[in-house]
Amino acid sequence: MKGNDMEANLTPNSNRTIASVMRPFGFDLTGPCAPPVTFDDHIERRLSALRGQFSDQEAYARLLVSDPLIYEVYEMRRPEVAGELLHGISIVHPGMVGEEFYMTKGHFHSVRATAEIYYCLRGHGTLLMENEAGDWAAETLSPGRVLYVSPGWAHRSINTGDAEDLVTFFVYPGHAGHDYATIEEHGFRKLVLASGRGFEIVDNPRWLAAGEER
Ligand code: F6R
Ligand code: ZN
Repeated sequence: MKGNDMEANLTPNSNRTIASVMRPFGFDLTGPCAPPVTFDDHIERRLSALRGQFSDQEAYARLLVSDPLIYEVYEMRRPEVAGELLHGISIVHPGMVGEEFYMTKGHFHSVRATAEIYYCLRGHGTLLMENEAGDWAAETLSPGRVLYVSPGWAHRSINTGDAEDLVTFFVYPGHAGHDYATIEEHGFRKLVLASGRGFEIVDNPRWLAAGEER
């Protein structure tokens, strides 16, 4: 790599140079502002990116007119190879589509034998998980709580709070990759729906078992 390239920014969003990320580094996650001071990529996902995932399709269609911002991800870029750790911040905004809370698309890791850790910084939510052996789990996300997503478990974060962002720090192996297609086609087997002042977890009537087609 030439000297000039090393001094170039990592991505247009980044305030780090290629040379600086070759060395150990640190950054702060505390403070009133959710986005980290330093990041390389900023991804925004609007409602239209979650087509077919919310159960109330009429509510989805009504909201699609304004296509609201559902969640954002700030990533520190690292080489996507075994031995590296990919990490960043996920922010799921508060809101509802019918009786269902704003949530991430959710995914399996392409390399199923890779885990992930979430650390909740702010807000309240649920991490909904399921594996291909037919098991599912829902764990609470609240400030200070660490969740371990075991290898082979798909995961989706859901903001069950009524006004606050759900902010989590995540870290996972560099070679994990993302399989979004399985969840896009089959959905999660459970839904998290508003109930009274809280939420309830119910079967997803539109969930497809492996091998089933819509
Ligand atoms: C990475 C991971 C998180 C999510 C983020 C957005 O493996 O689990 O960084 O990528 O919370 O959710 P998705 O990727 O499902 O759109
Ligand atoms: Zn993941």
